[in-house]
Amino acid sequence: MSQKRRIIIDTDPGQDDAVAIMLALGSPELEVTGITAVAGNVPLKLTEKNARKICELAGRPEIKVYAGAVRPLMRHLVTAEEVHGKTGLNGPELPEPRMKLQDEHAVDFIVRTLMHEESGTITLCPLGPLTNIALALIREPKIAPRIKEIVLMGGGFFEGGNVTPAAEFNIYVDPHAADIVLRSGVPIVMMPLDVTHKALTSAKRTQAIRALGTRVGEATAQMLEFFERFDEEKYGTDGGPLHDPCVIAYLLKPDLFKGRSCNVTVETASELTMGMTVIDWWGVTKRPKNALVMRHIDSDGFFALLTERLGRL
Ligand code: RIB
Ligand code: CA
Repeated sequence: MSQKRRIIIDTDPGQDDAVAIMLALGSPELEVTGITAVAGNVPLKLTEKNARKICELAGRPEIKVYAGAVRPLMRHLVTAEEVHGKTGLNGPELPEPRMKLQDEHAVDFIVRTLMHEESGTITLCPLGPLTNIALALIREPKIAPRIKEIVLMGGGFFEGGNVTPAAEFNIYVDPHAADIVLRSGVPIVMMPLDVTHKALTSAKRTQAIRALGTRVGEATAQMLEFFERFDEEKYGTDGGPLHDPCVIAYLLKPDLFKGRSCNVTVETASELTMGMTVIDWWGVTKRPKNALVMRHIDSDGFFALLTERLGRL
């Protein structure tokens, strides 16, 4: 096999984050160099614990988990217990983690890794608010040209927002961090709601995961059955959008996705549209094309890949 692709997953688990992490851990093409937790769906003390629970569920207690920012750069933390439950990982009963949290701060880990490892060999995969990534870029601007790519879940345009009519949760929670990342010059691949809302769970797809007959399969099915109810009620769909695993699936099978390079600019002033990602899909401005924005997904192919890889854990 060719060289494994080395990734750092920055995350606010969250059931969909959990599935993304397990997809990565079940894929031999990837090396998870570290997992950095950020405040988002639930407060940091829960997101870092949930990240460790997921690593142990996946049978990978050696993965290094770091705690990062406890709140956004400028704004108060907004969480999403109504979607993810009080623990952030409602659904399965998972034991308290035994693996230790790393002492090093997540931002220091990101900077140290990018400065020490060969330039262009580390991909950042943010699945939550971009606070840790922005702080790393501020702490050491020299990391920007050394980052191979940032593949992130966040934003929305044709689909609108999910936390306000204009903004998607990850960007809304820390729009200033998103602005720093979008202006960083680092190659960005963006998975907005426009594509993740087409990666819908369903009873059939969840049943295929449960039919794996493993602890991971059962726990994942329970996570999805809890997680999907909120969006099913809100959107009247059969199933909920599996946002974060789209990031990992792109690394494994980019052809599952279709999109185009666009300018993406984020609102950081107006309270009405705070956190809105203004995506110039039709190229009507001369603003630089700073992100490859995905809009379409082969959802059957996505779920087939996900189920097969979860089956390896
Ligand atoms: O808006 C969806 C995003 O917000 C996902 O990453 C979900 O986990 C939450 O963080
Ligand atoms: Ca997330």
